[in-house]
Amino acid sequence: MGICNIVILTGAGVSAESGLATFRGPDGLWEGHRVEDVCTPEAYLRDPALVHQFYDARRRKLGTVQPNPAHEALARLDIEWPGELLLVTQNVDDLHERAGSKRLVHMHGELVKGWCLACDERFEWAGVMGQAARCPACATEGQVRPDIVWFGEMPYEMERIEEAVRQCDLFVSIGTSGAVYPAAGFVQTARDCGATTLEVNLEPSLGSYLFDESRTGPASVLVPQWVEELLTA
Ligand code: APR
Repeated sequence: MGICNIVILTGAGVSAESGLATFRGPDGLWEGHRVEDVCTPEAYLRDPALVHQFYDARRRKLGTVQPNPAHEALARLDIEWPGELLLVTQNVDDLHERAGSKRLVHMHGELVKGWCLACDERFEWAGVMGQAARCPACATEGQVRPDIVWFGEMPYEMERIEEAVRQCDLFVSIGTSGAVYPAAGFVQTARDCGATTLEVNLEPSLGSYLFDESRTGPASVLVPQWVEELLTA
């Protein structure tokens, strides 16, 4: 049976060549901050100003970077692939959207979204949020948080994602260390359901042994090559 259903998982490595720091590299994004201090619900309750400062800096940085050829190749595949395709990203940047991907889900939330804890509305948020941000829906001040899934919180759209992973014929992981679950477990589910699995990463990841094929190198080179192969096969 030919490949018709594809699930692609991306991590920070797909945005690295756009200039966005990864999490566990030598210049890791957490540098200067412990994860526990900026990326947990407890951190937000303990020191909301620090958490807002961390995410405001990352949101500001977004305005200075562009999608790279890996994002653009994935957007081309999104447009040209006739079968089912779902791009599941762990990234909270908006580079996949800006490159043109549509069949996309952000399982860890998005930097460009806010969430009001007073009225539970979620909304676009482009600029600085800060601690006293006013909710555009209910006008409450000081109850708006980044719409990011923090450690200990449930990732978004897990049922939809797991169904797509079970149904896919091809599972491709790009630019992720395989360090964080549930994303790190998707490849095993795909294998158990008979999918072919491919990893594209700068170096072998923690789960490389689970992939039928591993291509090591920069995503901006390897992803366009892979997409071209797929679309011209
Ligand atoms: N091309 C391809 N892969 C790259 C590149 C590149 N140019 N640069 C780095 N990588 C690879 C690294 O080798 C590493 O395996 O990208 C991976 C990035 O791993 P992490 O920094 O752990 O990021 P990620 O896997 O996305 O982290 C998952 O952990 O911190 C949480 O919620 C956060 O979504 C994040 C999750």
